[in-house]
Amino acid sequence: MNIKAWIEHFERNRLHRTEPKWGAPFAMDEGKRAALARSLAEYQLGDGGGECKLVARDAHLFRASQRDMDRLVDLWFSEEREHSRLLSHAVKRVRGTPVTDSFAMRLFYACRRTFGVQFEMLVLLVVEIVSTAYYRLIRKYVRDEPLEAMCKLILRDEARHIDFHRDRLIARMPHGPTPAWAAMFFFLGEACATFLWIGKNGRCLRVLGTSRAEFFCHVRRGLATFSSSCESCAVIFEASENAGASDLLPG
Ligand SMILES: [Fe+2]
Ligand SMILES: [Fe+2]
Repeated sequence: MNIKAWIEHFERNRLHRTEPKWGAPFAMDEGKRAALARSLAEYQLGDGGGECKLVARDAHLFRASQRDMDRLVDLWFSEEREHSRLLSHAVKRVRGTPVTDSFAMRLFYACRRTFGVQFEMLVLLVVEIVSTAYYRLIRKYVRDEPLEAMCKLILRDEARHIDFHRDRLIARMPHGPTPAWAAMFFFLGEACATFLWIGKNGRCLRVLGTSRAEFFCHVRRGLATFSSSCESCAVIFEASENAGASDLLPG
């Protein structure tokens, strides 16, 4: 895995970020505003709020797995913290009340602490994909320029976070994810999307005009795209391995 290139990406990505125009006039149907206020407040805690670091008991193993990996992980989480900062402005804009604790967050952190860092990384990847569906649909339906601009910024970052997960996964499993990993990935994707849909965030998406089918279509497409990009990388790796082996053959 090219750690140096990823560190350069995160450092570059901190620059030239256009702040959404939070002070722009605000007008929104009351039902939409109230649903958004509850959902965005929860998201502010979940996306870069709270502890905002790897919390698994063996997180130090992943942080020390390659030279400068600890720095890369810190840069990734500082970008997540930036999402929470943006969301705090969004919460203020829709007159929401910031959330500092929730049952979902306690459950989220308890699972991450308990099952080890590889499981934690898998869960974080799934959350990035499901959150991408959430932000895309907020952006599509919200009809408020600063909130759309915020979603655009976060979506740009999350796309690269997902690429980062693909790179670190391929470095660990160059022949492609194992069937057990893939089964867990798709299972967690469905579970996380269902959890989101039945809670405040799903309610918000419904109030804005999203259907269950549309939300799950985005999530499943995200999961499938990630899985097939890992498989493509594995095919390239195997082809290069075979080409290397044929070089060793006489004649
Ligand atoms: Fe994020
Ligand atoms: Fe992310």
